Amino acid sequence: MSIEIPAGLTDLLQGYTVEVLQRRPPDLVEFAIQYFTRLQDSRKHDRHVKESLADSTQKGVAFDSISAESNEDEDSDDAYSDVCHSHFAPPVCAEAYNPDDDEDEDFEPRVVHSKSDEQRRRLQDACRDILLFKTLDQEQFSEVLDGMFQVLVKPQEHIINQGEDGDNFYVIERGVYDVIVLIDGVGKCVGKYDNKGSFGELALMYNTPRSATIMATQEGALWGLDRVTFHRLIVKNNAKKRKMYEAFIECVPLLKALELSERMKIVDVVGMRAFKDEECIITQGEKADCFYIVESGQVKIMIVSKTKAGQLDNAEVEIARCSRGQYFGELALVTNKPRAASVYAVGDTKCLVIDIQAFERLLGSCKEIMKRNISQYENQLVALFGSSVDLKH
Ligand code: CMP
Ligand code: CMP
Repeated sequence: MSIEIPAGLTDLLQGYTVEVLQRRPPDLVEFAIQYFTRLQDSRKHDRHVKESLADSTQKGVAFDSISAESNEDEDSDDAYSDVCHSHFAPPVCAEAYNPDDDEDEDFEPRVVHSKSDEQRRRLQDACRDILLFKTLDQEQFSEVLDGMFQVLVKPQEHIINQGEDGDNFYVIERGVYDVIVLIDGVGKCVGKYDNKGSFGELALMYNTPRSATIMATQEGALWGLDRVTFHRLIVKNNAKKRKMYEAFIECVPLLKALELSERMKIVDVVGMRAFKDEECIITQGEKADCFYIVESGQVKIMIVSKTKAGQLDNAEVEIARCSRGQYFGELALVTNKPRAASVYAVGDTKCLVIDIQAFERLLGSCKEIMKRNISQYENQLVALFGSSVDLKH
């Protein structure tokens, strides 16, 4: 009796077998589910890209060559769930992603990585202040948490390499990470993540190659979110964010000097935080990691006063207020010093929040305007306390 082997079966099983032999996963069934789900996702993406390519001839959009194998030999030491993800990273095209075109993603299978209670608690702690998650609703946020998987890293390990295709987005649980950018062919450290924050969103949001290398300087732990889930939850949400904040961002005086596309990139990475009356937003003397623009309500800037002899008397004095469209929290980022004043909400207040890395990347050309304000701050303090204060050095 002859049995006909269906076309593709041998390749399919061979691919899975090779993965198992390479990764040696502890649970073959769980691994098979992940493997074949990713394969299915990857095929859907292939189809989508082909359709986009067909479309692009009409729209006049140029694409890079499509490389499904570009991540093949990465991350051989990582936890197997991570490898599963990067191994099947879908092909990347150069067109900026338009979430409204992507009806298919709503029907993508939901990725769930099981976690112990302890892991889930640590994950929730790590994600609490991630700005990209701040505008998600509860259901979307818990889908993000379900889809995240643990990645353990060693000193000197490159989590991301500049120029490669994007596979995952990462949230930091612990560890210190250098941001290295090639400038005139030489790698320069342009920033650092110190035990908090997230990275790897740009390549996934804009379908561009990785814009920097991220290297662990010590042992660390990250939470990864695969590209498909990131698209479905975060990038789609960004389209809503653009609709919500576009008009507001347009009329923020500080941002007038930026191109429209640069302002929209700010919208893509901002988070929204709500504060109750009298809630402390910034504490004088603390290390700074973000910048704020008031969206509604008001804030008051308070500074610990000095006596005429220059000694601190520990009472806070109000020095200014900011309302809709005005910004605060830039000084410490521009001067690399601790926060120069405390800031409190006056009534219910909402602020757009931009983290220090995005501030450096996107607001560079606004820094001159901000620097001009520093001498005004100094004059204000002289008028209040009678002594000259050097905020810059
Ligand atoms: P992505 O381009 O996907 O991969 C590298 C990541 O480094 C990038 O996303 C950002 O999340 C992060 N990053 C932090 N600072 C910078 C910077 N100055 N330039 C580019 N990327 C940066
Ligand atoms: P930063 O030092 O980061 O945090 C406190 C913020 O208060 C500061 O940035 C400014 O944005 C704002 N501020 C407003 N007026 C003053 C002032 N006279 N001196 C210092 N900070 C001020």
